[in-house]
Amino acid sequence: MPEAATIVKNLLRWYLTEARELPWRQNRDPYGIWVSEIMLQQTQVKTVIPYWERWMKRLPDVDRLARARETTVIKLWEGLGYYSRARNLQRAAQMIQNEHKGCFPSDYEALLALPGVGPYTAGAVSSIAFGQPRPIVDGNVIRVLTRVDGIRESTKLSQTIRELWSRSESLVRFASELWRPGRNVCGDFNQSLMELGATVCLPRQPLCCDCPLRRCCRARAEGMIEVIPNLGARKKMIARMFIAVVVRRTGRYLVRQRSAGEINGGLWEFPNVELTSQDPSGAVWLDSGMGLDPSKLSALGEVKHSITNNRITLKVYCSDVSPDYCVMEEAGEWLEASELERYAFTAAHRKIVRRAINENGR
Ligand code: ADE
Repeated sequence: MPEAATIVKNLLRWYLTEARELPWRQNRDPYGIWVSEIMLQQTQVKTVIPYWERWMKRLPDVDRLARARETTVIKLWEGLGYYSRARNLQRAAQMIQNEHKGCFPSDYEALLALPGVGPYTAGAVSSIAFGQPRPIVDGNVIRVLTRVDGIRESTKLSQTIRELWSRSESLVRFASELWRPGRNVCGDFNQSLMELGATVCLPRQPLCCDCPLRRCCRARAEGMIEVIPNLGARKKMIARMFIAVVVRRTGRYLVRQRSAGEINGGLWEFPNVELTSQDPSGAVWLDSGMGLDPSKLSALGEVKHSITNNRITLKVYCSDVSPDYCVMEEAGEWLEASELERYAFTAAHRKIVRRAINENGR
């Protein structure tokens, strides 16, 4: 296993010149750093930047987030997915107001007690914002450390993950001993690990020639770059087919809100149903559920969307109905085109909104 000193010093030196300029790296405001870390879970930096900037403009501090309407918070998150992250951010902000007098906690245990904050986020915020020697392990760090140390065991095993936390901890402890005035070595070191994973130590075809750890990397020395990390068997993707219908009545569109317990709970969508062997084309649902004549629909094409291991295809149709149309089974709202913009839709149905409005404008 390469020495901590070699890894830490090479990474810190590399980070000094190669770190990307990211908006949340311009200062050490714990609120902005926390928001960025929550957004960056499951989402790439380039996607997050505009979301983070919009969020910080609208909700620049804990107080504003704590007092915001939930619909505002969810609308700002629209398209990032996993909406419980946004709700937890707001609940955590309210907790900071109530239990910490509005002052962002720097204590690691207090951070961990916030909704939506686990060991990764607590480690990231306490090191990046507060300079504490706390470890982090995320997907990028797993890739960098398993390759550098030549760890061949599956990263699905809890033993492997425990080892990586322990390695991350000893590395950041080593970094903390290199303290220099005006420099946050713990935050920089943790970010250098993630940065290397995001920009150089890539999942496929890593840029080993540009890597500051190329001389000490075990996976590279042993020709194991292609097989480390050992991610174990991937979850099989499940193909699912839905039919969705854009019903337009006197210029308004029928939409419904997903209920709280479901995936994407609280977000809006057009009426839709999953196709089954009992109703393979959705004709039964269209007719008896929606009161629509399947032969009178116009096709708006297909929308594809993946969520966790579901590969979803929505067949989309549009129907202009008469002013006396009403639908029994669908509790929903009739929105004007401009209101469709203001409501938060699921990612797939946001694509449908665009098509439906373009269709109308033709
Ligand atoms: N991914 C998540 N957080 C990050 C950070 N602070 N720097 C680089 N990549 C990251």
